[in-house]
Amino acid sequence: MTHSGEPVIRVADLKKHYGDIKAVDGVSFEVARGEVFGMLGPNGAGKTTTIEVLEGLREPDSGVVEVFGLDVCKHPDSIKQRIGVQLQSVALYPRLTVAELVDLFGSFFDHRVPAKQLIDAVDLGERANVRSMNLSGGQQQRLSIALALVNDPDLIFLDEPTTGLDPQARRSLWDLVKGIQAKGKSVLLTTHYMEEAAELCDRVAIMDHGHVLEMGTVQELIGRRFKERAVFFDTSAQLPSQKLAGLAGVTRASQEDGQTLLYSKDVPSTIGALLAMADDLSIEPKNLGIRQATLEDVFLDLTGRALRD
Ligand SMILES: Nc1ncnc2c1ncn2[C@@H]1O[C@H](COP(=O)(O)OP(=O)(O)O)[C@@H](O)[C@H]1O
Ligand SMILES: [Mg+2]
Repeated sequence: MTHSGEPVIRVADLKKHYGDIKAVDGVSFEVARGEVFGMLGPNGAGKTTTIEVLEGLREPDSGVVEVFGLDVCKHPDSIKQRIGVQLQSVALYPRLTVAELVDLFGSFFDHRVPAKQLIDAVDLGERANVRSMNLSGGQQQRLSIALALVNDPDLIFLDEPTTGLDPQARRSLWDLVKGIQAKGKSVLLTTHYMEEAAELCDRVAIMDHGHVLEMGTVQELIGRRFKERAVFFDTSAQLPSQKLAGLAGVTRASQEDGQTLLYSKDVPSTIGALLAMADDLSIEPKNLGIRQATLEDVFLDLTGRALRD
């Protein structure tokens, strides 16, 4: 058993080069037991290479790579019994049914979850006897997660689990991942969707060109770079811009198309001062709201590029 304090994954200065291509170039991070950890980055960042080294599918050039405190190069077989690996494509066996695939994958392991329980857990009970090629995209992804769970693993690897899914199928996958975490399991997932990382991950490593650029909770990543939040509201009246800029906490103010934006380093004070001023001027700020910087802004700030380029 892993102790709660001991990380389930430890990677230190991992390198994996393909000739001149430095796919992974000195990556370090740890994943705690029960944590959902996300590797977020654009195509080619080195996410899949990192995950495949951890799964024991690729040999690292150098660095420490431990799962459950064991060196992945020295103990691949005992680690494999306790991890769940989502394959990129279940299209490998298009003519097998959901139930047949779950049975087949279960047969690879000493310890396995009852097939029906697993199929129900990913909400495919009604589709158990349907061939995998006839499932929708979302159902195929849920099946691939079921297959990653056949051995009741303590740690699950999900490589871009929702790429190509529509928003509804994506949400259903998110619920599945949350359910896995609620059972005390640890998850390492990769994604290039900011929203997904923010929704699911306890901590995120932002990767680009084989490097981890920043790591932390989403709030930490945003807070490190963006101290200000924006208070916004609508008014029909033009407000005195000097007064706006002078409100408590405000660093910058703008008014455009009837919407006023106040960048603030102290939102409660700004809102208090704004409401007092509005009272004085007998105006009513409508649709008052607060907007925060997002992970997207963090990535842009770190790399100068939007993530979905
Ligand atoms: N087997 C391979 N041979 C040569 N280059 C590879 C191989 N696998 C990955 N790469 C290269 O390594 C870099 C990182 O790829 P990858 O780990 O797949 O990134 P990601 O999953 O973040 O998109 C890319 O430039 C990719 O082209
Ligand atoms: Mg990849």
